[in-house]
Amino acid sequence: EKGGYDYFMLKEIAEQPKAVADTLLGRIDAAGSLTLDELRISAAELREVDKVVIVACGTAFHAGLIAKYAIEHWTRIPCEVELASEFRYRDPILGARSLVIAISQSGETMDTLMALRHAREQGSKVLAICNTNGSTIPRESDAVLYTHAGPEVAVASTKAFLTQLVACYLVALYLGQVRGTKWGDEIQAVIRDLSRISNEVERVLETMEPVRELARSLADKKTVLFLGRHVGYPVALEGALKLKELAYMHAEGFAAGELKHGPIALIEEDLPVVVVVPSPRGRSVLHDKIVSNIQEIRARGARTIVIAEEGDETVVPYADHLIRIPATPTLLQPLVATVPLQVFACELATARGNEVDQPRNLAKSVTVE
Ligand code: BG6
Repeated sequence: EKGGYDYFMLKEIAEQPKAVADTLLGRIDAAGSLTLDELRISAAELREVDKVVIVACGTAFHAGLIAKYAIEHWTRIPCEVELASEFRYRDPILGARSLVIAISQSGETMDTLMALRHAREQGSKVLAICNTNGSTIPRESDAVLYTHAGPEVAVASTKAFLTQLVACYLVALYLGQVRGTKWGDEIQAVIRDLSRISNEVERVLETMEPVRELARSLADKKTVLFLGRHVGYPVALEGALKLKELAYMHAEGFAAGELKHGPIALIEEDLPVVVVVPSPRGRSVLHDKIVSNIQEIRARGARTIVIAEEGDETVVPYADHLIRIPATPTLLQPLVATVPLQVFACELATARGNEVDQPRNLAKSVTVE
């Protein structure tokens, strides 16, 4: 049932192009518009939404952090993202016009379930983004958008994460579509890019051998840091989480702009630092700032592992290791940038002799608060 792979995680990483394509299937019509009638929240209600609140745990929380950039950009609706375990204890401000999105692979995570129950008690509508048909979270929500990743067995989430991102983009674009924003043309273009993105994920998977080699060479390290900016920041957090879960290594993700406010003190000779570089097109100011960050940490002896778009030559002089990803619209970059980090963590775990599919102390779904 592992389909020839040593671990479910390897199989699930390899299944990502299909998982992404399946999650888009039937949701984009021939004219290139989104059809999400399955949402069961009417366009009229969606036009009334004045605030989006996303609740989730673990990897699903990182998908939520990325969704915030997309939702606020394409819809101009304020969006908050909160760890489900923190949400109801701070007396959050919710009302009938708040749309709460609960993201969960299993649909059984108790923290997320309690957060959505709290939201519904306040009169808010809850939309579940979930991978498991008929599970508790979608059953208790007003609406559900299923991700079509197929069963995910490995405890550390990979393909479910990519499909959560796709579902979040669909919701963001759909909200933009029904509300009509000044980004209409951009929304159309992104829908087209999204429908091609599964091929780009496939291309990333074809070039992962150097990443595996690099991971093996770092097996005796104690710490790896991850830096990113804009949507690359949650990608950095996810890269660090994967490494903790699988390799049992100390790993931290930082917003690259925060480096100078503290974390740069951690930089020392030969410390591996993975940097997710935003596209030089689009928000190019951020790109240039991150390139300066790479220079700064390299000047202090860090071993720089740079994930950058194909054709971005500015990073070449400062990268000890360069991992190429295809060019995508800025907001979609996490779909390709996360993949090398999954492969990196999986290979490091294997090199350290860890149990990849069943990391110590973790469970696939945590049904206690
Ligand atoms: C954790 C799992 O306990 O729950 C993580 O180990 C997962 O991999 C998190 O991201 C949230 O799970 P779910 O099913 O709600 O997405």
